Amino acid sequence: MKRAIITGASGGIGLAIAQQLANKGYNLTLVARNQEKLQAIVQTLEGKEHQFITADLSDNGGIEQVAKHIRTTPYDVLINNAGAGVYGAFTELNLEAQMNLIKLNMDALVILSYSFLKKARSGDALINVGSVLGSTSYSGASTYAGTKGFVVRFSESLWNEYRKKGIYVCVFSPGLTSTHFHKAAGGDSSDFPAAIQQTADEVAKECISALNHRSKPHVVSGFMNRTMLLFYRLLPRKMIVKIMGSF
Ligand SMILES: NC(=O)c1ccc[n+]([C@@H]2O[C@H](COP(=O)([O-])OP(=O)(O)OC[C@H]3O[C@@H](n4cnc5c(N)ncnc54)[C@H](OP(=O)(O)O)[C@@H]3O)[C@@H](O)[C@H]2O)c1
Repeated sequence: MKRAIITGASGGIGLAIAQQLANKGYNLTLVARNQEKLQAIVQTLEGKEHQFITADLSDNGGIEQVAKHIRTTPYDVLINNAGAGVYGAFTELNLEAQMNLIKLNMDALVILSYSFLKKARSGDALINVGSVLGSTSYSGASTYAGTKGFVVRFSESLWNEYRKKGIYVCVFSPGLTSTHFHKAAGGDSSDFPAAIQQTADEVAKECISALNHRSKPHVVSGFMNRTMLLFYRLLPRKMIVKIMGSF
């Protein structure tokens, strides 16, 4: 039986990935802050051996707790999905909140990737959840877009380093997805047209397909998002930044 650890699995995309992997027979460890939600989720997932870890990954102690667990427990798959955003003009937002976001979206992801890859063997896989904004930019969420740009470059570089060892590293980038993410970031998913949003289940399905195919360094979720990024390659960077800033 394959074992996977998924961060940010108490809701949204991480929960949908957990449900779909459990249906495929994976044995799971779920990580998030909300103990009540995690407790309820492990009881409803297909299969019996699932566990959870309650940890705040924007805190050094929480990151070390999960890193230590990964160092001492055999896993075939790590999905670094936990992430958060904050919407608003850069200097009008609280600096501390943005630094916490950097810790969660970047520091935790790097440290957990390190703990996993240090002992990974051929056949293992690491998926880091990025964002379409990691390949564009987004005025009004500049720190968030910056962290996701880091996730894209970091993970693509690892893909090439580890493919020679038979270990698959991938950045999986969702576009707009209707989850709690937007409310938590100070917005609402209804701020964006429904037609360009995917559901968490649709995104999770594409993430698991990337895990099964183990081919590309960067997988973008959704036909519309892939088309948009393809189209952007033809445009001057200045124009892309302005278009994204107009949303
Ligand atoms: N939704 C979108 O439109 C969208 C688009 C592109 C990329 N993404 C990326 O997709 C990933 C999942 O986002 P989502 O849309 O599913 O968001 P979500 O519904 O808000 O879920 C976020 C998950 O991360 C956990 N989490 C948040 N802060 C945490 C912390 N400090 N420590 C530990 N766990 C934490 C949350 O659980 P607790 O609150 O219980 O801790 C929850 O399980 C993120 O990396 C996000 O950047 C989302």
